Amino acid sequence: MSFLSEAVNGIAPGRLVRLDRGRDQEMLEVDELVWSDRLEGERWRLAVEALDFSWAIGVDLPAADGVRLSAMASALSFDVPTPGGRVAAAGLTWVGVRPECRGRGFLRALIARHFADCRERSAPVSMLFASQMAIYGRFGYGLGSTGARLRVPGGAAMRGLPKPTPPVDVRFETASFEAHGPVVEAVDRRLGLGPGARPGWTDVAAQARRRLLFKDEGPKDAALEPWRILVASRAGQPTGYALVRRDGKWDGWVADGTATVRVFQAVDPPSGHELWRQLLTLPLVANVETPPLPLDDPLFAWLEDWRSARPVVIDREHVRLVDVPAALGARRYAVTLDLRLAVQDRLLGDNAAVWRLEGGPDGARVTKVADLADDAVADLTLDVRELGSLYLGGLSATALAGAGLIAEHTPGALAVANRAFSSERAPGTPHDF
Ligand SMILES: CC(C)(COP(=O)(O)OP(=O)(O)OC[C@H]1O[C@@H](n2cnc3c(N)ncnc32)[C@H](O)[C@@H]1OP(=O)(O)O)[C@@H](O)C(=O)NCCC(=O)NCCS
Repeated sequence: MSFLSEAVNGIAPGRLVRLDRGRDQEMLEVDELVWSDRLEGERWRLAVEALDFSWAIGVDLPAADGVRLSAMASALSFDVPTPGGRVAAAGLTWVGVRPECRGRGFLRALIARHFADCRERSAPVSMLFASQMAIYGRFGYGLGSTGARLRVPGGAAMRGLPKPTPPVDVRFETASFEAHGPVVEAVDRRLGLGPGARPGWTDVAAQARRRLLFKDEGPKDAALEPWRILVASRAGQPTGYALVRRDGKWDGWVADGTATVRVFQAVDPPSGHELWRQLLTLPLVANVETPPLPLDDPLFAWLEDWRSARPVVIDREHVRLVDVPAALGARRYAVTLDLRLAVQDRLLGDNAAVWRLEGGPDGARVTKVADLADDAVADLTLDVRELGSLYLGGLSATALAGAGLIAEHTPGALAVANRAFSSERAPGTPHDF
């Protein structure tokens, strides 16, 4: 174990430490206390196996028998598509502070260390899924992508597509890693690595993470049917899959079941259309709950009436530019731009500067113009949080300026930024972390 600090935010003798696999039982205890969960057994084993311990950190407090792990955080390494490029990103995860230790600045200390680790490992971006939306803005994370969960009535009408050649074959089977792991891998590879990959897409390349897809979330799921899978293929090649399970409910003599789709992926429109058609016509299913879908997901175009599916929009990935120039240089821009951005950053002082961003569809160059975020020499002023929201193309500069969160000093600069930061596809990922 290596000590990273002698005192956490002045609370001696709290110590920031690196966590290794040998402390997994203590991590399990913290995890269960924080998340009111029971994770032991196979699921825990896989969760630990999937974790990249080189990112794992914690806070130790002294206890009668040694030390007590009081807070922890870790991350996964991702190679994430950006609009037109790719960036090394850390996916912050497993953040938890023992309930009785809250409010002592442990989260703040863990995040500060996480940012330092990102820099040491040349990951200019940190991303996360938030348990509560209000926690991370203060640390410079901006909302990077959104999604909508639908509850589609069974049998809902869909627009038709021309008969595809080759046709789409669909199998409906009990899902298992052994049988279907390769399908997930093949489809994901085409979606996540291809040139048209969705910005913000995260993989389940680590085998243990792929295995977890096929596992229950916790003991409460044990009463449900096992996960089933619909696999689409064309000319013998897998082209899509949907992991789904039904609750088998009846209301008296009327079938009233819900089918919950955990992950849905398709590489082409005919495969996606056929998978949804099959899901929406499953026998004895009154409603089909989708995973959170990006707002440009084809399902919105296929459903004749998605209003009846009562969409609920939620926040998805929160994005933090840990190294502003490296992150901005790792994406492409929809139109040519040459803008001076005054970026404010209360936590990472060297990000707070005026950056000249010159770029376009083929590349980008970022240079420092002034050491402080000085409005007088900038075209636009914004907080690093807003830059995180713009980064994947999920939120528009015009909308953020309309909310008073971006200031324009040079007429026309906002319109250029708005177009340049936009993305052809809404950002998002089917694989939460
Ligand atoms: C959320 C959690 C990690 C906070 O840990 P903590 O050590 O109490 O946080 P800190 O004392 O370092 O507080 C840091 C800042 O976050 C704020 N904060 C803490 N919890 C918050 C919450 N639930 N909502 C909004 N802000 C919160 C604090 O007010 C503080 O703000 P300030 O420094 O501007 O005054 C902890 O309560 C927890 O483990 N909760 C359950 C698990 C969870 O939600 N984890 C996050 C996973 S994404």
